[in-house]
Amino acid sequence: MTISPPPVGPAITVAGLTKSYGEHRVLDGIDLTIAAGSIHALLGANGAGKTTLVRILSTLLTADSGTATVVGHDVATQPHQVRAAISLTGQFAAVDEILTGRENLMLIGRLRHVADPRAIASDLLARFDLIDAADRRAATYSGGMRRRLDIAMSLIGDPPVLFLDEPTTGLDPQSRIEVWRTVGELAAGGTTVLLTTQYLDEAEQLADSIAILHGGRIIADGTVAELRELLPPAKVEYVQKQPTLEDVFLALVGQQQ
Ligand SMILES: Nc1ncnc2c1ncn2[C@@H]1O[C@H](COP(=O)(O)OP(=O)(O)O)[C@@H](O)[C@H]1O
Ligand SMILES: [Mg+2]
Repeated sequence: MTISPPPVGPAITVAGLTKSYGEHRVLDGIDLTIAAGSIHALLGANGAGKTTLVRILSTLLTADSGTATVVGHDVATQPHQVRAAISLTGQFAAVDEILTGRENLMLIGRLRHVADPRAIASDLLARFDLIDAADRRAATYSGGMRRRLDIAMSLIGDPPVLFLDEPTTGLDPQSRIEVWRTVGELAAGGTTVLLTTQYLDEAEQLADSIAILHGGRIIADGTVAELRELLPPAKVEYVQKQPTLEDVFLALVGQQQ
């Protein structure tokens, strides 16, 4: 007998969201739906408004108009329920350098009132490949280890939705790959991940679906395959060349200017 999973609504919905700073309209009517248990990349250049959108979705900032829900709760009218369901990891790690990796995890476990902070810390250290470094001060960690610890900390309490704002900006190539591997494993465990990035290869590597934020709007939204279909394949003599995500991005952004 097969048991079908219960129908799940989208983890995140955004409709007609706007936000201005003075005269500068950063978000100009954003519509977005993110399926539960998926990794969705919000791809945009520096200054496109990615952090602004993530801050609105995580209740740190209020929109001027429009609505947004996270796991069914309205960010404006039910901020406490939204906060209970999310975790946010920014570009600047929340890791305390004086503490060891294990101590950082146990501290967050106590703050979030989990039943057994020590057991949860050990489990996360193993999952994030930090066992060998567990009892060293975080100050001695590489950039990639620190970011992995930061992501591990954000998972304590099992939030169903995780926001990762530019998780690999500032990391060396090796550390980026380590973080990519970690993020890939998260969605496999059922967490919904909204990841912002300015790197096309990162979106392509990690995301089930990608929204391109440009000029205050989502100018394209879909899987990498769907985004590729927006461009006809280029014919090069006898070989058909599939457009890369970069080709699609540059063509779409070019159309807007
Ligand atoms: N508090 C603020 N006051 C004024 N302008 C801001 C503020 N925060 C962000 N901005 C501006 O809004 C735009 C989008 O910023 P941001 O959301 O941080 O972009 P991204 O995360 O995509 O790099 C930028 O032009 C930035 O300068
Ligand atoms: Mg940002």
